[in-house]
Amino acid sequence: MIRIEHLRKEYPNVTPLQDVTVTINRGDVISVIGPSGTGKSTFIRCINRLETPTSGEIWVDDECITDKKCDICKVRRKMGMVFQSFNLFPQMTVIENIMAAPMDLKKVPKKEAYEEGMRLLRTVGLADKANNFPDELSGGQKQRVAIARTLAMKPEIILFDEPTSALDPTMVGEVQAVIRDLARQGLTMVIVTHEMHFAREIANRVFYMDEGGIYEEGTPEEIFDHPKREKTIRFIKHIKVFERLIESKDFDFIGFNTALEEFCRKSQTPQKTIYRAQSVFEELCVQILLPALGERFRLNVTFEYSQDGEIATMQFGYGGAPFDPNTSENILSLKLIQNAAESVVYEYLGEEEGNLVTVKIK
Ligand SMILES: Nc1ncnc2c1ncn2[C@@H]1O[C@H](COP(=O)(O)OP(=O)(O)OP(=O)(O)O)[C@@H](O)[C@H]1O
Ligand SMILES: [Mg+2]
Repeated sequence: MIRIEHLRKEYPNVTPLQDVTVTINRGDVISVIGPSGTGKSTFIRCINRLETPTSGEIWVDDECITDKKCDICKVRRKMGMVFQSFNLFPQMTVIENIMAAPMDLKKVPKKEAYEEGMRLLRTVGLADKANNFPDELSGGQKQRVAIARTLAMKPEIILFDEPTSALDPTMVGEVQAVIRDLARQGLTMVIVTHEMHFAREIANRVFYMDEGGIYEEGTPEEIFDHPKREKTIRFIKHIKVFERLIESKDFDFIGFNTALEEFCRKSQTPQKTIYRAQSVFEELCVQILLPALGERFRLNVTFEYSQDGEIATMQFGYGGAPFDPNTSENILSLKLIQNAAESVVYEYLGEEEGNLVTVKIK
């Protein structure tokens, strides 16, 4: 359906896409993942020519859309795009937003545009907001309207650039559910996302972008469970394990907790497990370990949540003389840890590797 050959995009200072060759088939749902700045947005913006490629060719069906003679407006009608920031027209009501493009660009009669618009609003669960203005909606609702507006043009493919990243965490689910529904209907979609759980469950193919292109591609199982190349392995490990090094007693405690919470949310850790992990961290790390360690120390904290067995594990590694926190005199903190943890296992791994405490969170 879309054939991309030797796509290259240069900006004055960087070349995010060096040489990308890939084919997107009808019915594919592709998650595009990768570190920030690796050209994910540039890639999908090139596909619908919001960016002009420096070189290379993009074919949509039998049409070369990188050709100067190509009528790009016609091609764009086949390709919908949903942005992070909704881009609804604020002065129009919800239904007017949806009717505008079919009426202007496709000359669809008003009545038909209205009926189709209402049908789409029902599919995204927002028929009762038809006459509201975008400002009167929540972020999640705005994004669902934006998706309905894109669908109104009956696109053959929809490109999503981080459709949920501007949303409050509580609203991510409702937008993901709408996109999941479209995937079930067999729509061809390319979705750039930082939500790894979503990236995995929705796609039949995953593109990991790095080093100026699609660094590794595969099925969700291949990329998330058995990545082959070095950078993919590192990226996947990083999204599965939260890791922080603490080197000062005055470290940013609030920053740590916020980062942990953010990580937990992305790995779908249940809220009560998050509270318990934070409580274990506060009691074990802040109340027991930090006071016990000398002036110069390195404390490595990791957190991992496995959805399969719903197991959350926290590890604390530190150098210096053997010190088992279970022997601490801080009885209150030990009690609080017991409330939150199933087990607290201490090991001394020798002079080089030091102390390791493994906590299984309840
Ligand atoms: N219009 C532009 N002019 C100059 N440089 C740009 C432009 N757009 C993007 N870049 C640069 O190209 C690189 C890739 O940007 P891009 O937005 O595609 O990354 P990304 O993978 O989408 O990142 P993120 O995950 O943060 O959204 C970055 O180094 C960025 O600074
Ligand atoms: Mg981007």
